[in-house]
Amino acid sequence: LSLPTVTASAPGKIIIVGEHFVVHGAYAVAAAIDRRVRVTVSEAGRNSFVTSGNRSSLLFKNDGQFSAVKAVARKAIQDCGKPSQSLRVKIASNIPSGSGLGSSAAVVLATAAACSKFLGQNFEKAKIAEIALLGERLVHGNPSGIDIESSLAGGLLLFNRNAGMKPIPIAQAMRLLVVYSGKKRRTADLIMKVAMRKRQFPSFFESLTRSASFLSLDMVDAIAAGDLPKVGALMNVSQTSLSWIGVSTAYLDRIIESLCEGGAYGAKVTGAGGGGSIIALAKPEETEQLLDTISKKYPESFITSIPQEGLRWED
Ligand code: PMV
Repeated sequence: LSLPTVTASAPGKIIIVGEHFVVHGAYAVAAAIDRRVRVTVSEAGRNSFVTSGNRSSLLFKNDGQFSAVKAVARKAIQDCGKPSQSLRVKIASNIPSGSGLGSSAAVVLATAAACSKFLGQNFEKAKIAEIALLGERLVHGNPSGIDIESSLAGGLLLFNRNAGMKPIPIAQAMRLLVVYSGKKRRTADLIMKVAMRKRQFPSFFESLTRSASFLSLDMVDAIAAGDLPKVGALMNVSQTSLSWIGVSTAYLDRIIESLCEGGAYGAKVTGAGGGGSIIALAKPEETEQLLDTISKKYPESFITSIPQEGLRWED
C-alpha cells in the first residue's frame, strides 16, 4: 500500500543584474536555472517533521534547523485549517545552499505548494508566494522578493519591489556558465553590510541604485536583441558597482578575471556575493570549453539555459 504524497518542485535562479540594489528600490533582471528543488509531503506518524538527506527535525520544535521551511509549513497548515494533520516534509535539492542560486526561495516555495495541496487547498500561486515569503524573511531579513518571483514564474524577468515583476521573452536561447566558488555565506549578513554602505555614502549609493535600474533596462533590450557582447559588457559594469558596495572579494575577482581572460564576454557575482556564485556569458561555441577549464578548479560549475517553467506540481 503506498500512502498518498504530493510533490512540488521549483527552480533556483540567477540574478543577471541589479542584486542588492533591488532591495533598495532598483529594477533587477533575474532568470530561472536548470537546477530544481523537490519537496514531497506525505502523512507522518505521530509528529510532523522535515527531512533532507540524512538530516531530520521535528516541525514544531524550534531548534534552528530548517527554520524557514518549518515556518512556511506551519503557516500552510494554519492557513489550510488542518492543525491536527501530521506531515512529513522531504526536501531533495541539487542547488547548493548558501551559493547565491536561490535555493532557500525554491525550497520555501515548493514547501508551501506541496503542503497546501496535500492539505486539500488549491491556493493560487500568489497565495503560495505570500506564504513562502514568510520563510524568506526569516532567512534574509529584508528580501526584495526577487528570488521567490523568479522561482515561481521561471524564465527571464524584470523585477522591482514596487512595480512587481514582468516576464521578458527571450528571442534566442541563451546559455550561461555558473561557477560556484564553494564558499558559503549568509545572504542576510551581506544585505546588512550593504545597508551600512548606504548609511555611510547615501548619495553615492542612491546614484548606484539608479544606475542599476538603467543597467537592468539596457540588459532587457540587449537580451531581447540577442546582442551577447552587450549583455556581457553590461554584466561587467554591474560587477563594478557590486565591488563598490563591498560584496565582491579578491577571491571572486580572481575567478571573474580568469573567466574573462578565457574569452567570456562578461562575468559577475550573482546573488548576495561575499562568496557564493559567479555567472559568465561566453560565445555559444566556446561555453563548453570555458566550463571544462573552470571546472578543474571549481568542480561544481555548470551551464544553464533559462528554463521557462517555474513552480510546478509533479505527478
Ligand atoms: O544570494 P541570494 O540568492 O540569496 O540572492 C539574494 C539577492 C539580494 O538582492 C542580495 C537580496 C534580495 O532579496 O533581493
